[in-house]
Amino acid sequence: MKKILTALLILSALLALAACQEEPQAEPTEAPAAEVESPTEAPPTEEPPPTEEPTAVPELTEEPMEEPTEAPMEEPTEEPMEETAEEPAAEMVASQSGLGDPLYPLLGNAGYDVQHYTIDLEAEPQGNTIAATTTIDAQATQALDSFNLDFAGLEISEITVDGETAEFSRDGQELTVTPATAIADGAAFTTAVTYSGVPEPIVDPGVPFTAIGWLRFLDEDIISVISEPSGAMSWFPNNNHQLDKATYTMRITVPEPYVVAANGELAETVDNGDTTTYVWEMDDLMASYLATVNIGAFERDDTIGPDGILLRNYYPAGRIDEFAPAFEPTAEMIEFFSSILGPYPYDVYGAVVLPVDGDFALETQTLSVFPQSAVDEMTIAHELMHQWLGNSLSPATWQDIWLNEGFSAYFPFLWDEHVNGPEANLLPAMGAYYEFVAGAQVPPPATVGLDNLFAEPIYVRGPLTLHALRLVVGDEVFFDIMGTYYERFAGGTASTADFIDVAAELGGEDARELLNAWLYEAEVPPFPETE
Ligand code: ARG
Ligand code: ZN
Repeated sequence: MKKILTALLILSALLALAACQEEPQAEPTEAPAAEVESPTEAPPTEEPPPTEEPTAVPELTEEPMEEPTEAPMEEPTEEPMEETAEEPAAEMVASQSGLGDPLYPLLGNAGYDVQHYTIDLEAEPQGNTIAATTTIDAQATQALDSFNLDFAGLEISEITVDGETAEFSRDGQELTVTPATAIADGAAFTTAVTYSGVPEPIVDPGVPFTAIGWLRFLDEDIISVISEPSGAMSWFPNNNHQLDKATYTMRITVPEPYVVAANGELAETVDNGDTTTYVWEMDDLMASYLATVNIGAFERDDTIGPDGILLRNYYPAGRIDEFAPAFEPTAEMIEFFSSILGPYPYDVYGAVVLPVDGDFALETQTLSVFPQSAVDEMTIAHELMHQWLGNSLSPATWQDIWLNEGFSAYFPFLWDEHVNGPEANLLPAMGAYYEFVAGAQVPPPATVGLDNLFAEPIYVRGPLTLHALRLVVGDEVFFDIMGTYYERFAGGTASTADFIDVAAELGGEDARELLNAWLYEAEVPPFPETE
């Protein structure tokens, strides 16, 4: 471990020299807050955070939950997520309680397909209490006597299915709903879950460096939802896997003067006197882990990007001048990435900057969340790139996460190459990455487990894999592979095998062999010769 740390330090020093990075290696921090700690222990974080940089894996240093000044909060009793598979299984076996993801078998639920979530939620930030009804429009994909949703904590007062009261039971994160009348295969149905309480952060073994889900930052008086991978179930019941994407309406009511920033477009703001309801519409399909709600004293800054895309950024009140300049390249980045992959997938984009320090930002759909300490050009490019790769085109399983992070770690270097030329940062960084990966024998990206889901195999060997592919097939074929892969799977999901097939189709069997070696083999392949 020491060796890795040393190597990473050298690597970050090189990268810093390469000027991409201002923040060298953060020290491993542990899971936020003692209060979040659970009886069962998330795996200890020995590993240094994944990368410095492009993506820097953020941990939010701030405790999400501290004792409220008044109403004492209950101790989170939350158990960590249930059972996760130790050994990735090759096949996904879906059931009522889970889709059989190799790393998170209980996430998602078979038997239905969600079309739309309507989340009506009233938040009381001082005590961090919520009272909500989430209404789910779905279609049965088999006859259903009962069905499951993923939902952790909070207290449910009522569930209806097509307007009739339904029975329900809970077991960990599995909420089983038994409608009064069975649902026929293919039938559309609507279920509404009414609940309240204080949302508890999720302890997820895939992200031991942070709590996830609905997070309250007491000192800064903000709330932010950061869910990847499993945190969405901390605040609304859902089919918690990217294999079932849906559109969203969020009606979030907060006391004056709090402001709410969420995914999509702000369709309406309703003044209720003491409270305001912010109605956010996400009209394109979204995975539940990409849903975000941010509540605090934010100020909005609007500009128009390419193709009329509305860029709306939310900054801590009074600090627009401090942050807006950093986000100015966003419009040009959108044009640049569009030229490689195809049009930006949504009508709007923007960032919400939180007045907290942390090491990672998150690519929440159309509104990336940045801690104030992660606002830098490479991270801005990284989260933007995720809107194509990650959000529109999502990994079929969590073990395919390199399809998100490897690409989003490499593309900021393409942006840098576009602006500064290849010698400035791209080539030195890839050289340093190779030294590091070969020296530390960083394991391959496509076979990661929960213990290195957001670590070096993904953030360092991942982008290096793409760079190696590029060196072997040449720029023309490489960019053709990128664009074709995106075009083919945009709006849905793809597996590592899907990507390799596209690469082989356009780049030949050499490309397949190279990718197999880089993605699956323990041994680090030689750095491709360039001419
Ligand atoms: N996907 C994010 C990024 O690299 C951060 C991932 C780690 N954090 C998390 N909560 N999953 O931009
Ligand atoms: Zn990322």
